[in-house]
Amino acid sequence: MTQQNEISYRELPILPLRGVLVFPYTIIHLDVGRKKSINAIEEAMLGSKEIFLATQKEAQNDEPDEEDIYEVGTVAEIRQVLKMPGGTMRVLVEGLHRGSIKTYIKHDDYMKVSIEEYKGENPKNAEIEALMRTVVYQFEQYVRMSKKIPPETVVSVVAIEEPGRLTDVIASHLNLRIPEKQKVLELRDVNQRLNYVCEILAKEMEVLELERKINIRVRKQMEKTQKEYYLREQMKAIQKELGDKDERASEVEELRERINKTNLPPDALEKINKELERLEKIPPAVAEAVVVRNYLDWALSLPWSIETRDRLDLDLAEKILNEDHYGLEKPKQRILEYLAIRKLAKKMKGPILCLVGPPGVGKTSLGKSVARSLGRKFVRMSLGGLRDEAEIRGHRRTYVGSMPGRVLNSIKQAGSRNPVFLLDEIDKMTMDFRGDPASALLEVLDPEQNNTFSDHYLEIAFDLSKVMFITTANSTHNIPRPLLDRMEVIEISGYTEEDKLHIAVEYLVPKQIKEHGLKNSNITFSEKALRKIIREYTREAGVRNMERQIASICRKVARQVVKDKNTSVNITVSNINKYLGTEKFRFGAAEKKSQVGVTTGLAWTESGGDLLSIEVALTKGKGRLTLTGKLGDVMKESAQAGLTYVKSKADELSINSEMLEKYDVHIHVPEGAIPKDGPSAGITMATSLASAMSGIPVKNDVAMTGEITLRGNVLPIGGLKEKALAAHRAGINTIILPAENKKDLEEIPANVRRKIKFILVSHMDEVLLAALEKTVDN
Ligand SMILES: Nc1ncnc2c1ncn2[C@@H]1O[C@H](COP(=O)(O)OP(=O)(O)OP(=O)(O)O)[C@@H](O)[C@H]1O
Ligand SMILES: [Mg+2]
Repeated sequence: MTQQNEISYRELPILPLRGVLVFPYTIIHLDVGRKKSINAIEEAMLGSKEIFLATQKEAQNDEPDEEDIYEVGTVAEIRQVLKMPGGTMRVLVEGLHRGSIKTYIKHDDYMKVSIEEYKGENPKNAEIEALMRTVVYQFEQYVRMSKKIPPETVVSVVAIEEPGRLTDVIASHLNLRIPEKQKVLELRDVNQRLNYVCEILAKEMEVLELERKINIRVRKQMEKTQKEYYLREQMKAIQKELGDKDERASEVEELRERINKTNLPPDALEKINKELERLEKIPPAVAEAVVVRNYLDWALSLPWSIETRDRLDLDLAEKILNEDHYGLEKPKQRILEYLAIRKLAKKMKGPILCLVGPPGVGKTSLGKSVARSLGRKFVRMSLGGLRDEAEIRGHRRTYVGSMPGRVLNSIKQAGSRNPVFLLDEIDKMTMDFRGDPASALLEVLDPEQNNTFSDHYLEIAFDLSKVMFITTANSTHNIPRPLLDRMEVIEISGYTEEDKLHIAVEYLVPKQIKEHGLKNSNITFSEKALRKIIREYTREAGVRNMERQIASICRKVARQVVKDKNTSVNITVSNINKYLGTEKFRFGAAEKKSQVGVTTGLAWTESGGDLLSIEVALTKGKGRLTLTGKLGDVMKESAQAGLTYVKSKADELSINSEMLEKYDVHIHVPEGAIPKDGPSAGITMATSLASAMSGIPVKNDVAMTGEITLRGNVLPIGGLKEKALAAHRAGINTIILPAENKKDLEEIPANVRRKIKFILVSHMDEVLLAALEKTVDN
């Protein structure tokens, strides 16, 4: 042991400390509240200002006894005393040196002790020097690690020369528990003290290191939980993705199964497989995936190899055709022929039938019936108003919302690749900048090309060659030529009154009764009533309006039946007004009596034949010709021709030549709103002119049709059958017609032919002879 410290004895008031320990060489603020302590300070202040600071063993103890206070403490000088509100005191003390309590000196107001003081430093030696360096070094480390002590402290600590002071200053900075600090204070030997501080520092650093590790671990833990949360979220997304992947996988699987089942032609198989591969690669959320999926779904739902077997029983087919439609012999025969050929030569390419006729004659419904008789599926696609090629052939898939064309869509609907395909109203297509639908249709209909029909959307050739195409039109005029060339036209002309009556009795009435949920006992139609419907409630070539009238009667009767189940109505001529209102047409549209300058012509329109009355009036003027009634150029020209002819025949017709120069001629064709054209009214206009100029009336029961040349020759016309039927409907009994049309007379139904007198003419003279009333002079 090295040299002993100086020892002296003193009596000093004692200040018991709670939770703090004051080392020598340190300055510290103490808050003092206990009465005895305050008294002790006051006592000290009165004397040397020195006080003994000793720490209580237990901070909670308010009235510590001798045993409750550590023996070793610090002699300190009171530097400053501040009286605080509430009677407490704040004192600034500076530790001077160690001291140890020898005896407690009794005093009532405060505690006083007799102490043994230890002053002075141990002299340095090499060992102490080494220890000092170690301690300083450790302290430096400690400060760096703890981060709780300001780094400047290190600077002041490094400057300390005295080993005792060094230990005390360092110990005061360390975050030690009281017993540890107390031990530092109690070690009077500086060597021991240095060793102890060294030990403490090492331990503290270890603790710090541990703390650091714990910190890191805690942070890691924090990070980990955060990371976990983050990962879990990611996982969720991934799982979702994975789930989708599953969905996708099963979807692809499902599609693959469908591909296997579908029996696709090789090129279709290749293309569809390629698309499926593409689908697998595209992420599900991408819009493209939807496009591809839709494509595959659509392509696979086409009837690539599904075919219905034709029922090639001719007798049964004929029976079915007759079951559905009355008459229509020609189309029915043609259809049966087709069936017969199919039976003999299975590979024959199907003809394309084109049913042409006025509205309501059963073209559409005949198509349906063909399908029924063949036992095939039926699809109908209306071409009316179609103007875009893409509607037939579809849009390329590069377009947003592109769709397959209607042809393949219909095939898909049919569900077999050999349906009866009705292309309705092929003459109502229009053409514009969006491309010509007719040319696309050509590819559909042409037997040479349609086994590889390509839809822009599908991009795979589809075989349409097994399809039986039937087209319908009201007239062949508006069917594009190349299309017409590929079709076999079957004319269906209008019905006569007898036909209509048959159709009504055998088809329409039973059909409507059934459709309206009536019983045969509820309603009957007398023949006369049906005739009245035909004559006075409709004026048409077909039977659509008649069907509508019958339906409207059925509706009204149905209402009565609801009220009274036993209703039984017989529709007769006398009660028909009650159901249909007043007559809409005057039967026998022919003029009631013969007139001058008015002639009945016959016209052909898309809706069948019609009567056309042509009026001529003469007014004073300069020989000008006026035409009204919305006439086309051809009609105007034939009016000119007629006029020229009449003028050239003025003498023979005993027409006053003044008449030709001083009168204006006005030709009018009533029902002016309807455009009219064509050359077939030539002889009619000439007759009206001749009548007007000569003053001889035209027979009212005569109708005529024929084209005229300047020399008065009469040229043939078309649509004779329709015209004859119209004349018959109107109650005309004589028709003047071109001699060259004689061959067409056969087409006119026999019962009409029997009732009407046909006068065949080849020159205008004959027309006038037959049409003009015989005058007294003649
Ligand atoms: N010969 C017939 N026998 C029985 N019913 C017929 C006959 N002709 C037409 N019908 C009936 O008349 C109605 C109209 O026929 P549909 O619709 O087929 O006429 P369309 O010729 O297609 O006319 P549009 O040219 O206006 O399309 C249908 O209900 C049809 O059954
Ligand atoms: Mg139709």
